[in-house]
This record gives sequence, structure tokens and C-alpha cells, in this order.
Amino acid sequence: MKYHFGCLKENELKLLAGIIFEELKNGDLVLLIGQLGSGKTTFVKYLAPLFGVDQQKVRSPSFSLINIYSGNTILYHVDLYRLEKIDEEFLMELEEILEQKNGIILVEWADKLEKFWPKDCLRLYFDYCQHGRTVQIEVKIDILKKLVSRWSDCLQNSKN
Ligand SMILES: Nc1ncnc2c1ncn2[C@@H]1O[C@H](COP(=O)(O)OP(=O)(O)OP(=O)(O)O)[C@@H](O)[C@H]1O
Ligand SMILES: [Mg+2]
Repeated sequence: MKYHFGCLKENELKLLAGIIFEELKNGDLVLLIGQLGSGKTTFVKYLAPLFGVDQQKVRSPSFSLINIYSGNTILYHVDLYRLEKIDEEFLMELEEILEQKNGIILVEWADKLEKFWPKDCLRLYFDYCQHGRTVQIEVKIDILKKLVSRWSDCLQNSKN
């Protein structure tokens, strides 16, 4: 089930990160999908401090495909932009991380390995819009219902 959260400014993306944070637990996988500059890393930057990770440390992995941040839990920040062909060694590393369930795995350009991911992970789709970025979330219906309900409370509170 997919839901469109509208065209969000950066501060609204931060609010959305706060809501998603509450639903995340160790072992969860978050796929970040969208073209260059669409807000994937920005989302990770807003999420990281909520897990006790210094925001300054968040940057897309450049030489490796993965950065590991430790805070209250481990954040695995994967960026597949530079992945040119399926790298079996890297896939094994990812599988191990997924099996360990000792942290949250966030994957930019996850669509590059579309067939690899389990069905029930959280997918965030980013795109450009006039004053920010659109965000669509695809996840199991029960989780999506909670996110949508908290989001509407959050918007209501920010107006009051
Ligand atoms: N909701 C938003 N509204 C306005 N600007 C945004 C929003 N989200 C991100 N930006 C800005 O867009 C720029 C690019 O964002 P970011 O680096 O997060 O994109 P990305 O999807 O990770 O790109 P890449 O594919 O290159 O990794 C940044 O300068 C960021 O501040
Ligand atoms: Mg990025």
C-alpha cells in the first residue's frame, strides 16, 4: 500500500522522519528511491540524530557502498549509486547485515537492486515538486495507517 505525503519542505521532511523513526526497530530495512538530489540523504540526516548519531557524520558512502554509524543502535547507510553490476560479495555482506538484525538499514538508490529486497520493507519514494520534495511511502497497511494518522496529528499540531 502506497501513500502520498504531498510536497514537503525540508522542515516537514524532518517531521516525517520523526514519525517514521517511531516505527523503526532493529532489523528494519528502509529503501530510499528517487532521482539525484531528491532528498534521500537529507532524510537520513534527519533520522540519524533520533538514533543518537551525530548528523555531521551522515554522508553518502563514497569509496565503499556502505557507511556504518553507531548511536543508540547501528545505522547502516548504503548508497548504490555507484553500483554498476551485481557484486556478489557486497550482496553477501548485505544479507549478513539483514540477518543480524542489530540495526536499521537505509539504502539510497535501492531500485538498483530491486529484485533483492524482501517484500515487506519500508519504501520511500522521493521526487521534486515546486517548493520541496514529494514523498510517497509504501509499506504494510497496518504500519501505513499509523504513519498517516500520526502525520495528520503532526500537521494539526504544527498549525496550532
Ligand atoms: N524537502 C526538501 N525541500 C527542499 N530541499 C530539499 C528537500 N530535501 C532535500 N533538499 C535539498 O536537496 C539537496 C539534495 O538533497 P540530497 O542530497 O538529500 O539528495 P539525494 O536524493 O540524496 O541525492 P543523490 O541521489 O545525489 O544521493 C540538498 O541541498 C537538500 O538540502
Ligand atoms: Mg544521497
